[in-house]
Amino acid sequence: MTAAADPQALLLELLAPAVRADPYPLFDRIREQGPLQMPDNNLTVFSSHADCDVVLRHASSSSDRLKSTVAQRMIAEGTPARPFGPPGFLFLDPPDHTRLRRLVSKAFVPKVVKALEPDIVALVGGLLDAAAEQPAFDAIQGLAYPLPVAVICRLLGVPLEDEPQFSAASALLAQSLDPFVTVTGSAGEGLEERTKAAMWLRDYLRELIHRRRHDPGEDLMSALIEVEESGDQLTEDEIVSTCNLLLIAGHETTVNLIANATLALLRDRTQWDRLAADPGRAAAVVEETLRYDPPVQLVGRIAADDMTIGRGDGGEGAGVTVPQGDNLLLLTAAANRDPALAERPGEFDPDRETIRHLGFGKGPHFCLGAPLARLEATVALTALTARFPAAELAAEPGYKPNVTLRGMSELLVAPNVASR
Ligand code: HEM
Repeated sequence: MTAAADPQALLLELLAPAVRADPYPLFDRIREQGPLQMPDNNLTVFSSHADCDVVLRHASSSSDRLKSTVAQRMIAEGTPARPFGPPGFLFLDPPDHTRLRRLVSKAFVPKVVKALEPDIVALVGGLLDAAAEQPAFDAIQGLAYPLPVAVICRLLGVPLEDEPQFSAASALLAQSLDPFVTVTGSAGEGLEERTKAAMWLRDYLRELIHRRRHDPGEDLMSALIEVEESGDQLTEDEIVSTCNLLLIAGHETTVNLIANATLALLRDRTQWDRLAADPGRAAAVVEETLRYDPPVQLVGRIAADDMTIGRGDGGEGAGVTVPQGDNLLLLTAAANRDPALAERPGEFDPDRETIRHLGFGKGPHFCLGAPLARLEATVALTALTARFPAAELAAEPGYKPNVTLRGMSELLVAPNVASR
């Protein structure tokens, strides 16, 4: 038996950009070691499927960062509690979470999302027309990014012309989800830049809300303003936070689902060919990508009370006691490759009998955008493989430094390889 590695050393390895291209061997090592506890940091890390699944559904799991011992200590030392106003409902508990989620959930149910399909098909067609002209195109900038961005802007009523400005802010804010403070006690590089981006984006959205008040459209922002004006269900600050959350979610997640699936298919030629010949396979390809190479690699929770996770009988795999106020990191990308969840977990196999994963989370915070992300990815991958059956990977991809919302910075694809 190999000696257990120091928990902090393992987590620092996870934060290092060097593992970004392939963090999975490290995730295996972390999962094999079992839950990691760092009492000095008030941190517990889970990485098995069973543990992550239980914590995500646990009544004592809080999403409100202010409930952590670390946050309480910082507030006691004078750090402002909520410098940017109320957070998006991703970071709230009931009753606020339930109230705000309910107000926007109608816009994301499968039936409403399905009505967007013709627009999504047209957008993808236009992007692939442009890609066909090039000897090699970047599947990120040429397809995976512009598609979800155009869709979320349309849904929210955010002008696409402003995109270059808020895409820069959104990229910076995505980095603030990385667990640097949780693991090291310090915010990592670029805190000032991220703070400026957060303030800029909130001001931008507030100004847009003021415009929409006088000139409403058929969009979600206008619908939320109407709800605000008709009673006491939500405040303007909450509209800002909700639109902020949806805009960032729309920018920083689906792009990586489309890109990660494209890469997996190009690396396993048979899978590319089979999808090109049979669009009916797309849904399974998307689901397997969410398991095998998920865009969201980890999620955080706070222990609102003392919790016992795992077996409580003191035997092998005995339960872990988590003290109230601990930060919990759930390494869902590691859980997805738990051998207890799937046979041959390190293999990309859309044909497995059942594909289970925590790629969209679980429990009360299960991804609201899941139907939309699935639809966009299905349309994009079906069209991409059908249009370019002979495509090849033109270079090894590059990765952004992001840990939580991990994704490629560039994915060069040669669309029309003559020899095939
Ligand atoms: C492939 C793309 C996507 C992935 C992998 C993904 C993943 C996730 C995950 C793992 C969570 C749970 C976080 C937690 O439990 O703490 C989540 C929540 C959420 N997602 Fe997504 N997401 C994707 C796309 C989208 C899109 C396109 C939208 C909307 C525009 C969206 C909106 C949300 C919202 C609002 C929540 C918070 C739900 C709540 O707190 O009740 N997501 N997502």
